Amino acid sequence: MSVWAVLAAAGRGERLEAERPKAFAQLRGRPLLAESLERFEASGWIESIVVVAPPGWEEPVILLAEELGCGKVVASVAGGETRADSVRIGVGEVAADAAVIVVHDAARPLVSDELVERVVTPLSQGWDGAVPGLAVVDTVKRVGPDGAIVETVPRGDLVVVQTPQAFVADVLRRALASESASAATDCASLVEAQGGRVQVVDGDPRLLKVTSPEDLALVEIWLAA
Ligand code: CTP
Ligand code: MG
Repeated sequence: MSVWAVLAAAGRGERLEAERPKAFAQLRGRPLLAESLERFEASGWIESIVVVAPPGWEEPVILLAEELGCGKVVASVAGGETRADSVRIGVGEVAADAAVIVVHDAARPLVSDELVERVVTPLSQGWDGAVPGLAVVDTVKRVGPDGAIVETVPRGDLVVVQTPQAFVADVLRRALASESASAATDCASLVEAQGGRVQVVDGDPRLLKVTSPEDLALVEIWLAA
C-alpha cells in the first residue's frame, strides 16, 4: 500500500504573531515544520511527502528538508488562500498510483507513528477515511450574538478531531474537487459531504495545534520532558 503524506504548512500564523509564517516559527531553536517533517521521514508507513509551503517559502522548505536528511520530500509547493485550497494543491503533487493520502497540519508538531498507524489501518477494512478524535470533556453551549446561551448541547457523542487524517486517495481527490471545498476546515468534512464513511479513532492530547505563543511554549515543555 503506497501511502503519501501532504503536510499543510502554508498558513500565515496570524494568531501566533511571529515575524515569520507559523511553519518557520521557532520551536526549540528550529522551524516548527522540522518536527513533523522528521517524524514523517522516520515513519514506517509513509513513503513520500509533499510539503505545502507558505507562498515564497518553497525554497526554504527544500533546504530544511535537505538539512534534516528528509529524502522522502518529493515536492514543496506554494499553498493557497484557505487550508482546503492548500491541501488541494498538495494533493495535486501526489503520484497517481498512491493508494492512501495522509493529510497533516504542520501546526501539530507532535505527530507519532502510532497515530499514523491508527488512521491508516481502517482504510484496509473498508473505510474511506479515518481521523483522530478526542472526547469533549467540557459542557458545550450554543451562544447567540448577544452572548445569551441558546442551548446546552449534549456532548456524549461529540468529539474534536485532529490530524493526521487518512483517506483512500481517489476519495480525497474527488472530495477536494467539489465546488464548495475551499471553506472546509478539515478534509474529513468534504469526504463526509460526498457520502464517504470516515471512522474516528483515538486521538492524542499532545497533537495540540499550535495556535498561540502559549501553545508553542507548552509543546516545548512536552518535548523537553
Ligand atoms: N494552512 C495552509 N494553508 C492555508 C491556511 C492554513 O496550509 N491557507 C495550514 C496551516 O499551515 C496549519 C493548518 O493549515 O498547519 C491549520 O491552520 P491554522 O492552525 O489556522 O494555521 P494558520 O492559518 O497558519 O494560523 P492563523 O489562522 O492563526 O493565521
Ligand atoms: Mg488559519
